[in-house]
Amino acid sequence: MRALDYLGILSLLLALPTTHSLKAHDFKTCSQSGFCRRGRALSARAKEAGAAWKSPYSVDPSSIAIASDQATFTASVKSSLYPEINFGLELRVHDDGVVRVRMDEVAGLRKRYDEAASWALIAEPTVSKDIKWTAGKKDIRAVYGKKKELELVVTYEPLRVALLRNGKEQVVLNGQGLLHMEHFRTKTPAVTQTEEPAPKEGEEVVADEAQAVMKAENPRAWFEGDKEDDYWEETFGSWTDSKPKGPESLSIDINFPNHGTVYGIPQHATRLALPTTTGESPFFSDPYRLYNADVFEYLASSPMSIYGSIPVLHAHSADSTVGMFHAVGSETWIDVGHASDKSTETHWISESGILDLFLMPGPTPEDIFRQYSRLTGTTVIPAHWSLGYHQCRWNYVSSDDVRTVQKRFDEEDMPVDVFWLDIEYAEEHKYFIWDKKNFPDPVDMINDVAALGRKMVVIIDPHLKRTSDYPVYQKASELGLLVKTKSESEYEGWCWSGSSAWIDFFNPSVWDWWKTLFKPRQLASGWSWTESTEDVHIWNDMNEPSVFNGPEITMPKDNIHYGGWEHRDVHNINGMLFSNLTSQAVAERSDTPKRPFVLTRAFYAGSQRFGAMWTGDNMGTWEHMAVGVKIVLSVNIGGMSFAGSDVGGFFGNPEPEMLVRWYQVGAFAPFFRAHAHIDTKRREPFLLDQPYKGIIRDVLRLRYTMLPIWYTAFRETSVTGLPVLRPHYVMFPKDQGGFNIDDQYFIGSSGLLVKPVTEKGATQATVYLPEDQVYYDYFNHFAYRGAAKGKEITVPAVLHQIPLFVRGGSIVPTRERPRRSSKAMKRDPFTLRVALSKAGTARGELYLDDGETYAHRQGQFVWREIVAEKPAKKARTLKIESRDLGAARPAEAVDGAVLKTFDPENEYAKSIADVRVEKVVVAGLSGKPTSVKVEGGDELVWDFTPGVAAADKKEGIASVLAVKDPKVLIAKDWAIIIEW
Ligand code: NOJ
Repeated sequence: MRALDYLGILSLLLALPTTHSLKAHDFKTCSQSGFCRRGRALSARAKEAGAAWKSPYSVDPSSIAIASDQATFTASVKSSLYPEINFGLELRVHDDGVVRVRMDEVAGLRKRYDEAASWALIAEPTVSKDIKWTAGKKDIRAVYGKKKELELVVTYEPLRVALLRNGKEQVVLNGQGLLHMEHFRTKTPAVTQTEEPAPKEGEEVVADEAQAVMKAENPRAWFEGDKEDDYWEETFGSWTDSKPKGPESLSIDINFPNHGTVYGIPQHATRLALPTTTGESPFFSDPYRLYNADVFEYLASSPMSIYGSIPVLHAHSADSTVGMFHAVGSETWIDVGHASDKSTETHWISESGILDLFLMPGPTPEDIFRQYSRLTGTTVIPAHWSLGYHQCRWNYVSSDDVRTVQKRFDEEDMPVDVFWLDIEYAEEHKYFIWDKKNFPDPVDMINDVAALGRKMVVIIDPHLKRTSDYPVYQKASELGLLVKTKSESEYEGWCWSGSSAWIDFFNPSVWDWWKTLFKPRQLASGWSWTESTEDVHIWNDMNEPSVFNGPEITMPKDNIHYGGWEHRDVHNINGMLFSNLTSQAVAERSDTPKRPFVLTRAFYAGSQRFGAMWTGDNMGTWEHMAVGVKIVLSVNIGGMSFAGSDVGGFFGNPEPEMLVRWYQVGAFAPFFRAHAHIDTKRREPFLLDQPYKGIIRDVLRLRYTMLPIWYTAFRETSVTGLPVLRPHYVMFPKDQGGFNIDDQYFIGSSGLLVKPVTEKGATQATVYLPEDQVYYDYFNHFAYRGAAKGKEITVPAVLHQIPLFVRGGSIVPTRERPRRSSKAMKRDPFTLRVALSKAGTARGELYLDDGETYAHRQGQFVWREIVAEKPAKKARTLKIESRDLGAARPAEAVDGAVLKTFDPENEYAKSIADVRVEKVVVAGLSGKPTSVKVEGGDELVWDFTPGVAAADKKEGIASVLAVKDPKVLIAKDWAIIIEW
């Protein structure tokens, strides 16, 4: 590293805080952001004006044009304040009932950015064939839906859009008149503020009168405010945003009458059910902000933006859920309030772009997930190994360090699948280029890890060191692929590598070039990463993008991307393109494409199709541990199921108790990785003393036993879009008691309910059971009984105990032989844990494939259903049957791949033909068996422990039947008959 770079970085590091506190002044509040201030002022004026407030926007009925497909209509919209400006409205009903509402400025001075949806959507949605618009004098409307239960009403004056179900309004746009699309204009000499004449002495001014006078005299000021507040330039700290296009913000109120709870709009460190930001006593004083940002030591409770943005919201009540997605890529602020406990009002304020809203009619959370994933895709099935445990720190300092850490895991019999390398592997932080002083033999090191069935993940950040001896930067610069400043020169900013430049992933010329860099073999066409292998996967960090010396630690908004768009227009999408492209590059680097693993810090709607995310630089505090669970639940709501937070906390040195609890949290997150800041003490689990070391080893092993459950849950999400982690409102949408619960959740459809303990010194935990059903303690089969209206139970939770339950009626498949990594488990036998419902039945699924290629999309997999039922008229018999599911439901088999047929005897199934079920455990039988047999076979070896009922007979330790080696195969049909 050159001395200049060291000095630069040193001065930047010195500028970072030394105390553990958020540098709040690095980031804007709403009142420091011109367009947010204007948006909130608009809403304040509306409130003050009360019933007199009227939106100036209206539809010109004579302009309505219904397209030949009947599902779409367009119309022109005018604002009475600017009759010379034209807006276009387009409404379209998709075949699944989703309504798309677009509004743009027509033939304005400039074009507004309208491509956000094209990055988020998987395809142009198909429109409904079942729509008929009826244009009347006051409105145009359409009734649709399977039972004609949905109705869309667009009122002309003022413009108002309402989606109704069974005659009840579900979503209303511009009902409060906060729609305002600031049109492009030319800068005129500063307008002086019009002072209201002071009332004469003794004269009482009635507020309503004053409003009326103002409205009549200066309607624009009445609506927009009377000054050009930060229209043409904006300063923040030492930064000036030149705003060459002037004001172009977009405000709209989106209200959900009849829905009192809202979820979503990740990423924020707060509760899952979003607290209010408006009203009498708002929980937060600022709106929720969506502006991807590298926030140093972010707060554990705040509406501030952090690394990623998904503008998706669910509005929920006991009898309905509706959703919305706003495809906007610019900075957006969202106010949330409740006029009553039965309704929610939101106000969306974006800096630029068009209005491009997708209204998802529900009516259940499940429907919303399906509707949203039909738009933006699902989380694909990850490589199987990536669901194992990941060991990271900033940094493993040499190849021998990596080897030693691997050795220590093996010596302590702790399973692990992946070792990670942070930025110090790279010479002068020139990513891809090994620092040969410390990593003299990178390929040998990777192979040593791979030899034990493991992988490596190596970091590639988006900032490129601007130096002539860095081929990646050189080529990008030469080809003109870098982001530009407002004056069209190469943008230079500071990040880990000192003076840096950023690739412009919006430029299509970048895409193929970026993919070539990852080829682990020499290319005739240029540089590629030959010192790498197919066992290396990628971590994309700092892609908000983080720019240490930029405004709000990111890029200036007036920087220029491909197509001439300003950074302001695309900021929230920018980071996603980097990791999406990396994911494609990793998949395509080998001749037989393999599933890539790419972890990203920044994300946007659609990121779920390409990889995993984590919650960034959390702190080693109990609050951060707890809020991490909520953030992961909320990004799951936003479609990103593959999510987790740094186990241990990034900053700080967690005491052993905290570390143990954090491992318990991590083991029940879809993405399970320990990570630590460069200044922290080493804290690999093998370094702990007993009993902590032993407890963590058990947690790691528990995660591995449950890999079949996680993998099966990912199969489901890959098809339905239902999240892997399911909070209560998703599982039990009618149960009001669960709406605010965000510290316990279910894993897929497995029936597992977990409440990770995130409190210091806890010895017990309170768990909410939402229904009149048995919930078995996973570890000791204690059967708790919920209640129809919901019930809280208190369960033991000393340090080694995780409150984990199996919902009665579920069958969970596990693999219980301790192994060093997931690869070693590929041929291991299964245990089936049958948790009988109060009716004495159960059901579960198991999905398996090769875990790394795409052969599953061609039908190479095993998908089983295991059902425990009482055969008709045989009250004292239980039949546990394993059936093939693939042939029954080929079209919904996996990853959205459309299969017409499925062959249960496929090559993959054959490759595991001899994999057995080694144990079947049945909890909750009402009597001791007299016989346990495979259908048509001999008596099996089994063991029965009677239950111990508590006083009320409904609760107590359940009876447990353990059938040893039932001699059945996992991929075959069979039945076990139990009689008592
Ligand atoms: C910031 C990331 O959030 C953190 O995980 C990483 O260790 C550092 N960058 C260094 O790469």
